[in-house]
Amino acid sequence: SIDKCHIVDLPKIADSRGNLTFIEGQRHVPFDIRRVYYLYDVPGGAERGGHAHKQLSQLIVAMAGSFDIVINDGSKEKRIHLNRSYKGLYICPMIWRELDNFSSGAVCMVLASNLYDESDYYREYSTFLEAIQGKT
Ligand code: TYD
Repeated sequence: SIDKCHIVDLPKIADSRGNLTFIEGQRHVPFDIRRVYYLYDVPGGAERGGHAHKQLSQLIVAMAGSFDIVINDGSKEKRIHLNRSYKGLYICPMIWRELDNFSSGAVCMVLASNLYDESDYYREYSTFLEAIQGKT
């Protein structure tokens, strides 16, 4: 459910030469990191996401700029604004997500628990809802 999704406070090594943040698998995220991808050069007004994953867990970090993530578990919905490089949003499996409100220069980095696999996606909200409701 949506309550399993939460903000992860990442370590921040503050330094007059610049700050440093790191992320370790199984420590800052409850999975082994098997893939990293990022969204960038997102045009103003564009929306990303619009799907859910059957098995995949993810951590989303605003590496630069800001954006919103709307998470939905089929019964509850929440909008989260990400704008710090030392905060991540953990998203568990079976959560519909949409990303919007990207600032100019925003970079959205995603750490994922598995390799890319199209068969792990729900691309239709109706199919996602049916799967969720079949489980309860
Ligand atoms: P998609 O997951 O729909 O993007 P987003 O959720 O950010 O809006 O992926 C867009 C396209 O990129 C789609 O054709 C699949 C491809 N893709 C890969 O090949 N590998 C990946 O790791 C990801 C995330 C996407």
